[in-house]
Amino acid sequence: MKYGYFDDINREYVITNPNTPSPWINYLGDSNFFSLISNTGGGYSFYKDAKLRRLTRYRYNNVPEDTDGRHIYIKDGTTTFSPTYLPSKEPLDSYECHIGLGYSRFIGVKNGLVSNLLCFVPLQENCEIQYLTIENTTKETKKIDVFAQVEWCLWNASDDNENFQRNLSTGEVEYEDNTIYHKTEYRERRNHYAFYHCSEAIHSFESDRDEFLGIRNGYDHPLQIENGSLGNTLASGAHPIAALHVQLTLKPGEKHSLSFILGYCEITGNEKKFESLNIINKRPAKEMYLRYQNEKSLKDAFIALKKHWDSLLSVYNVTSDNEKLDRMGNIWNQYQCMVTYQMSRSASYYESGIGRGMGFRDSCQDLLGFVHLLPEKAKERILDIASIQKEDGSTFHQYQPLTKRGNGDIGSGFNDDPLWLIAAVSAYIKETGDFDILNIKVPFNNLEGSEKPLLDHLKASINFTINHKGPHGLPLIGRADWNDCLNLNCYSTTPGESFQTTANKETGIAESVFIAGMFVLYGKEYARINELIGNKSEGTRVNKEVLLVKEAAEKYGWDGEYFLRAYDGNGDKVGSHQNEEGKIFIEPQGFCVMAGIGHESGYGKKALESAESLLGDKYGLELLTPPYSTYHVELGEISSYPPGYKENGAVFNHNNPWVTIAHCIEKQPKAAYSLYIKNAPSFIEEYSDIHKTEPYVYSQMIAGRYAKNYGQAKNSWLTGSATWSFVALSQYLLGIKPDYDGLIIEPCLPKETFKKIHIVRQFRGTTYLIDIDNTIDNPTCYVNGKPIKGRLVPSIRSTTPVKVELH
Ligand code: BGC
Ligand code: NOJ
Repeated sequence: MKYGYFDDINREYVITNPNTPSPWINYLGDSNFFSLISNTGGGYSFYKDAKLRRLTRYRYNNVPEDTDGRHIYIKDGTTTFSPTYLPSKEPLDSYECHIGLGYSRFIGVKNGLVSNLLCFVPLQENCEIQYLTIENTTKETKKIDVFAQVEWCLWNASDDNENFQRNLSTGEVEYEDNTIYHKTEYRERRNHYAFYHCSEAIHSFESDRDEFLGIRNGYDHPLQIENGSLGNTLASGAHPIAALHVQLTLKPGEKHSLSFILGYCEITGNEKKFESLNIINKRPAKEMYLRYQNEKSLKDAFIALKKHWDSLLSVYNVTSDNEKLDRMGNIWNQYQCMVTYQMSRSASYYESGIGRGMGFRDSCQDLLGFVHLLPEKAKERILDIASIQKEDGSTFHQYQPLTKRGNGDIGSGFNDDPLWLIAAVSAYIKETGDFDILNIKVPFNNLEGSEKPLLDHLKASINFTINHKGPHGLPLIGRADWNDCLNLNCYSTTPGESFQTTANKETGIAESVFIAGMFVLYGKEYARINELIGNKSEGTRVNKEVLLVKEAAEKYGWDGEYFLRAYDGNGDKVGSHQNEEGKIFIEPQGFCVMAGIGHESGYGKKALESAESLLGDKYGLELLTPPYSTYHVELGEISSYPPGYKENGAVFNHNNPWVTIAHCIEKQPKAAYSLYIKNAPSFIEEYSDIHKTEPYVYSQMIAGRYAKNYGQAKNSWLTGSATWSFVALSQYLLGIKPDYDGLIIEPCLPKETFKKIHIVRQFRGTTYLIDIDNTIDNPTCYVNGKPIKGRLVPSIRSTTPVKVELH
């Protein structure tokens, strides 16, 4: 069952039923101010850091109820409705939520009033605009009341949820000129405040939540709205909100627009913090809202946002025989990549924004999917990430976006982390050709005086694996590898102890075949980079190390039919036919084949066959099978989940693309494509009711066959599935692969299904128009009409488009 449809021309998903099985959300904002916005107007806003600078409040455990957000109420006689359906819950005569790129538009119709609410954050601006147009389509004049309201969060979202003995006495606001200012703690150490402004002269306002709602009412029926007017109270102490009230008279056929602006300001430098005693300096707020005071400026800001996306999405654009594939490749997959770049795993409806900052490996991987869109930002991100690496190559696992400092409280010792830096840097250089990045000096652990060229960080990464190998010559796993629920040194028996931060036993024995795959893949990449910049001996040194790990993986990492997952802290096999449960894991099948391990021996192909036959379900490949039905102290968190969920046997959308890529490497287009379409959102839209999460983005996981709720997805939006699916689609299936000296053109799609493919790719400032005839085996590649040897189209500086043909 579907709840809407894709509108490819406008690049929107249009939801036509507000009762989606879970809130289906969108993200607003491109630089520092961000909002989450659900299909019923729920969500929250923050500045830079969802934990430390939360602007509006959200109660996480109320999903799917989802009643916190931007609230608009339109009161027409005795009927009060919301264009977003929530919070009023008044049934609408018609409802649409258009999920667009960086905006959401709601169209709610009730009793002849057509309300159109457009929410977006203008480019590089620190505010969310809620632009509301109401049209009276009836034959009578209507007198209506419009109310708009948000609930403030007291900045630190974690503290806001816990420290009530203090919080309930700190709230402070001001009111001036149709604007409510939230200034809690501004008097002490803070230099920032938020505001909510209306473009019209208001009739009344309210800033105290309990006055607004009344003691027993919820946001569906606030007492003051029922009474028809707000109380003009200035909150003091507890629960500040901002509610603004406008009265309108609309003649038959008349349309009226107004806007509400939720903004964030800082007073910096020598500027005075106060206008007078305890009265905040409102200059930046006024300047900000005045920028959007007239309709033209609002429309221009929206057009600029649209143009921004036109330009981003012109970098990679495909026209194939399949509209579902094109819609993933051209719109939704790239959009999700951008959001994961911005948020990492910090703020979604599943990541509360208070637990996790920017992940080291997460961000490195996210970069693979957005580097073509914003290479400058990718560079900045690489330098930030590398700064939380330590001198021995190990890394902090995460950092807070506001401070950019590594955060040890959230865990460390994940032995795959260092190698992901090589993945990120090589992807950046391949996209840009900018080898100079390797010379930029970057500190270790943000310590002054420790700065070394980025190349030294890569070396530290490589050496970390070389220096941490176990009894079989395979890399030690540490706390865990990519699968952070496979905790082979944790041995936790204490209820509630975090698997992510605890190691009760450093065995020095537990090894990961997955990291072996990573080392072979990224070790070769590192060696290649060194050779290209003339460090031949370093390249040779590391290639030798790569060979050793490759041999160890083929010898000790092979289980007969597929790759083994690991050796645990007792030296026993994990992911082997000898195990009763967890006989096979997906990760080493994908990554070892991607690395070329077992290519010559045929192990690679065999491993992929085994993965398909043992792990395959309707939605893709499960992470392992059969799932663990009991807790295994020697395996950790993975065996704490009920069978079929999360790492214990769900389809993890993050690692399925590794297998898709592996199939392409082994030249198996049918297998690659059939796996790709099993969980690509646009291909499974009709299962929306089973799936429950948004049909326009990937979720982290889809419950597997052993789960009670087989097919139900969780954790949409912030997942490495976005980046890896885009890499699989754009570089392997469609086969446009940036390399150090140019673009490699090597599509891998079934010729029965795909005949002609046209791709526009902007690469290092030049446009490549690529036409692929997919019906021919071993086609020749032509560049501007001339045949070339092989498939590497050299990077060409040209103001006119370069024509590339494969036929
Ligand atoms: C989840 C993982 C996640 C980890 C770190 C675990 O509970 O299962 O998917 O990566 O926590 O937050
Ligand atoms: C989700 C985390 O974000 C990611 O870092 C991890 O690799 C996967 N879970 C797999 O466990």
